[in-house]
Amino acid sequence: MALTTPEEEKQHNNNNGCHMNLAISQYCTGEPQANLSAVINHYVHTLNHFNFRNLGYPTNQNFDYDALAPLLQFHLNNAGDPFVGSSFRLNSTSFEVSVLDWFANLWDIQKNKYWGYVTTGGTEANLHAILVGREQFPDGVLYTSEDSHYSIFKIARIYRMQCVVVKTLFSGEIDCADLKATLLHHKDRPAIINLNIGTTMKGAVDDIDLVIKTLEKSGFSRDRFYIHCDAALFGIMLPFLKAAPKIISFKKPIGSVSVSGHKFLGCPIPCGVVITRSEYMNASSRDVEIIGSRDTTITGSRCGHAPIFLWYAIKKKGSIGIQNEVENCIANARYLHNRLSDAGIGAMLNEHSNIVVFERPLDHEFSSRWNLACQGNIAHVVVMQHVTIQMLDSFVTEFLHKRSFSRFQDYGSFQPLCIAEKVSIANCSCSMHNLYHDCAC
Ligand SMILES: Cc1ncc(COP(=O)(O)O)c(C=O)c1O
Repeated sequence: MALTTPEEEKQHNNNNGCHMNLAISQYCTGEPQANLSAVINHYVHTLNHFNFRNLGYPTNQNFDYDALAPLLQFHLNNAGDPFVGSSFRLNSTSFEVSVLDWFANLWDIQKNKYWGYVTTGGTEANLHAILVGREQFPDGVLYTSEDSHYSIFKIARIYRMQCVVVKTLFSGEIDCADLKATLLHHKDRPAIINLNIGTTMKGAVDDIDLVIKTLEKSGFSRDRFYIHCDAALFGIMLPFLKAAPKIISFKKPIGSVSVSGHKFLGCPIPCGVVITRSEYMNASSRDVEIIGSRDTTITGSRCGHAPIFLWYAIKKKGSIGIQNEVENCIANARYLHNRLSDAGIGAMLNEHSNIVVFERPLDHEFSSRWNLACQGNIAHVVVMQHVTIQMLDSFVTEFLHKRSFSRFQDYGSFQPLCIAEKVSIANCSCSMHNLYHDCAC
């Protein structure tokens, strides 16, 4: 299908919900199937159009789960501990455990040494992981970098934990000098550290080994810290990237790892995975007779379809398939970064990352059309599996056109936004820093 024009796009936006009668009246007597199907077909058509410009969020939209359609005839519910099973027989815990075993192996922890479950997403996985850390250290201080996902700050509020926000480097990586200073400030209390293995906005990977060294140098022995690795997007990607060193490994003194299932693997419903050490798991759990299981998870009823989607995606792609997808996303991200830089647009791409950060487009409609995620003066594109070179070329062409048009409109006074504060002078193309580059040459 060809890319749509802005006018067609507007039409689709208008149709998204407005022309479809979605309201459910109190006196609804049941709608004929043909009407319901028409609404759904229209919605599918609209979604297909949005997908062609879906650049800013880390969801892989390239999947085909048609073979799993027969499962929609069943309500599948994995309430309880996946390893204990449940008295509700329509569950998919056998698929869930297979998926968990795969992740445990990927992150270097033996079957009998780990525990985990399939969550509703990365946020719930973080919620569980930080709870495990807090159960270890009820008086612990939570440390996390300023570039962390908003879920971490929310979790600190939910658990009423003291949260210390640590500065980041330009890359988005946690600044270990600042970490050390803050650790020394709270030396008398254990440390619960949330590390980002891929920050949301810049795709920066915190240096686990350096953080461990920093903890040790600051006087924190291994029985006084707990490290959680929030690897929402990169948790699957990094282990398959040939050029990357082994980053996520339970051979290191880390307590848990979380990942979103709908991000890299691609899944039509949000889901996630949390893996921790089994030795931590007894403190907070209880046996519950009515479900014939152990209550070890945050939620009660749990989606039984999600583990099957994950299992199917992993089985179908295989290791080589996943590796090819990772390499391809990274190569396409480099392509976009080069195209933006060559066109004089300030941009940054971290090593081993598929997230290209650049100067925020000033045209709000343009950002919305391409579904860009923006923060302050920067925006980003997350190059996922459905993002093609053709899409990236169209995006850059349109971006350049909009940029030159705003210059024309402002009679030449248009100034590119300065993004040096966020991505360093070297990656900024504002008028002042362009001059700096010229001088530096
Ligand atoms: C670093 C990081 N952690 C956690 C999350 C939350 O994941 P989810 O949206 O699956 O709850 C995200 C989502 O983008 C993220 O980027």
